[in-house]
Amino acid sequence: MPLAGRVAFITGAAGGLGQAMTTAFAAQGAAVALADLPARANQLAELAQGHPRALPVELDVRDTVSIRNAVQATVDGLGSLDIMVCNAGLNVRKTKLLDATCGALANARSSIAPLVTPESARQAPCVARRRSAAGCAL
Ligand SMILES: NC(=O)c1ccc[n+]([C@@H]2O[C@H](COP(=O)([O-])OP(=O)(O)OC[C@H]3O[C@@H](n4cnc5c(N)ncnc54)[C@H](O)[C@@H]3O)[C@@H](O)[C@H]2O)c1
Repeated sequence: MPLAGRVAFITGAAGGLGQAMTTAFAAQGAAVALADLPARANQLAELAQGHPRALPVELDVRDTVSIRNAVQATVDGLGSLDIMVCNAGLNVRKTKLLDATCGALANARSSIAPLVTPESARQAPCVARRRSAAGCAL
């Protein structure tokens, strides 16, 4: 899938893999919404400065209203939302606390659906989810 001109929404963008994916998407010409917890706002702002079309958005993926607001801010700020990377989560190598709400993916999908624009509808929004025994993507 060509990424140039697309808008990617990456949850957990302030984390290790989120930052790496942000760099990779931006290098391929995508605009990137950097979504993470409000407590990570400083890291998001710093990360956004390194990319020409990056928008920091705060969200908690356990909260439907928060997801809806972040998706709307992305559509308002970047014009669309074509790719959602559900990367936010807990890496069990970095934390012992597991507070996973896997229903958050359904929340995210239902928040995106009403916001799909005619332009982005030419190709159905792509949802990528990360998950393995090493952690749980929310
Ligand atoms: N690093 C690995 O080797 C590895 C392996 C397999 C799976 N994973 C999964 O990949 C994802 C990213 O891994 P990482 O190593 O970058 O982890 P990380 O801890 O560096 O980053 C995770 C990010 O998710 C954010 N986050 C946590 N809860 C959130 C919430 N409720 N709402 C919004 N954001 C939230 C954190 O603030 C953080 O910025 C995780 O889901 C992890 O379980 C990682």
